[in-house]
Amino acid sequence: MNNQNIFNEIREKIDIVDLIGEYVPLVQKGRNFFGVCPFHNDTNPSMSVSREKQIYKCFSCGASGNIFTFVRDYEHMDMKDVLELLAAKVGITISNNSVSRKTTKYDKLYEIYELANKFYQNNINTKDGQKAKEYLKNRGITEDIIKEFEIGLSLDNMDSLTKVLTKKGYDLYTLDKIGLSSNNHDLFINRIMVPIHDINGKTVAFSGRVYNKQSDHKYVNTKETEIFKKGHLLFNYYRCKEEARRNKYVIIMEGYMDVFRAFSIGAKNVVAIMGTALTEEQTNLIKKLSNNVYLCLDGDDPGQKATLSVGEQLEKVGINLKVIRLTNDEDPDTYILKYGKDKFYDLIDKAISFSDFKLESLKKGVNFNSDLELSHYIDSVIRETSLINDEIRREIILKKLALETNLSYNTLEKRLSGYLDKKRPRDIIIEEKKVNNKLSMYDKAVYGMIYAIIINKKYLKLFQEESLYFINQKPRYLLTEIEYYYKKYGNIEIADFYTYLIDKKELLDLYNNIISYMDNNNITDEAVNDFIKVIKSYNVKQEIKRLNELMEKETDDLEKSKIANQIRLLRIGE
Ligand code: UTP
Ligand code: MN
Repeated sequence: MNNQNIFNEIREKIDIVDLIGEYVPLVQKGRNFFGVCPFHNDTNPSMSVSREKQIYKCFSCGASGNIFTFVRDYEHMDMKDVLELLAAKVGITISNNSVSRKTTKYDKLYEIYELANKFYQNNINTKDGQKAKEYLKNRGITEDIIKEFEIGLSLDNMDSLTKVLTKKGYDLYTLDKIGLSSNNHDLFINRIMVPIHDINGKTVAFSGRVYNKQSDHKYVNTKETEIFKKGHLLFNYYRCKEEARRNKYVIIMEGYMDVFRAFSIGAKNVVAIMGTALTEEQTNLIKKLSNNVYLCLDGDDPGQKATLSVGEQLEKVGINLKVIRLTNDEDPDTYILKYGKDKFYDLIDKAISFSDFKLESLKKGVNFNSDLELSHYIDSVIRETSLINDEIRREIILKKLALETNLSYNTLEKRLSGYLDKKRPRDIIIEEKKVNNKLSMYDKAVYGMIYAIIINKKYLKLFQEESLYFINQKPRYLLTEIEYYYKKYGNIEIADFYTYLIDKKELLDLYNNIISYMDNNNITDEAVNDFIKVIKSYNVKQEIKRLNELMEKETDDLEKSKIANQIRLLRIGE
């Protein structure tokens, strides 16, 4: 049995509605199921899942695919792992050689990082590592944590890692490029090394912390490289995936130490943003972990500011957000160390909603004796309140505000109503398909034709009988694949063809566009005849254009008149 057959067999055994339903809540509307698409920022249910066709499509971002592509893109797994995962679900075992893992141009870089990671981890367990171990011990970092997070040590000399790696045959240019050496020297010297993993758990960077002397830089971090884009990952993401799903929430902290500490009390559903602002990619990663998020940043001023900005980002993508509050001088690390596990879980229980947090922070530093500041404050509170979808809570807030400011409830109420009127109801409007707008008549006909050929083999015959062809390369190649698949398997299931194209990115993209643009119901013999007409006349026009260009270059009069005649005949046919 070859791969395609295995894919098809598993695909038939797993219902896509059940599978996607495990990741995203789905609601049935008519024949299809709808949910919030996890592949772009959204709060509207723009992704439809068809039980009939066993595919999903997002009307907003245009993503589409089958069970395999969904799990691959959701979990950021490679196909081999997706296949294994889904095979196991239906009790099929995949023998090792039947599916081969794709090698990538980054394999060597990952390999180097793996070696460096081992080297650093080994160092900390030698005599050279005693001081570092002591430092960690004093901070309450146990051996278990050291092992779990692969904490290591870079040695107190200029080139020990560079030597180890060059001896193994890696060239200095590569070591430079990936941020481990520079000019034959190590970049990390005498620091406690924290490896940073990408979302699949591969080591892609290090952060080195000072531990036994003064330094202007508490942490030295790997520069951005081909395999390390800081804004595309979160510390501890890959360990957190399962935990977040099991706990149904995730906690966001600032630093490594916070994560280590949380882990030590068994709170493993934690990621760290590594002390920076949140990028869009990171926001999406968090949303994939869970829709319920607790922000637990440092209690100091920068931490509270960050809570506001990170919170705004997360709120935008519809995340259910709460804020865990620490006093000014605490971070999660010191809090847990001082008060212990139970008290920390108490804090989680007492977390406040993000809107309450915002309301509270609006009040900070406002001078109630200044009319200007006061009216500004009142206005911002009311605006914030207008965003809350709960009438009772709105009333409570306004009553408090009235007391606090000595204004009448009615005045405040009136202002609130103004904002509420302006606020559009959150309609569940499914956006117009994006691909749709950009397509020319001809493209639409090509899409339609290919789609027709996929859902019914008779249209392939028709296409061939008409001696039609696609002028552009991609549709032509896609058609070749379709013909081949028909020859080999006799029949095409829309869902299976995604897996067939999985390694042919450009064709897969085209197929994706076609599937998300087309719907079953527009395929009739009549529609297909229209597609054929459009394609034919386009081809004729292109041919005339080509002949005209040829004629212009031609010097021989006889040849010229021959071409002119060809053009005339084409025009008549048209
Ligand atoms: P913190 O200063 O809170 O560090 O910065 P920490 O990890 O809690 O470490 P301790 O408790 O002082 O030992 C939060 C995060 O910001 C990033 C790191 O990711 C850190 O974990 N950071 C901070 C840097 O990358 N470089 C720095 O110089 C400082
Ligand atoms: Mn900290």
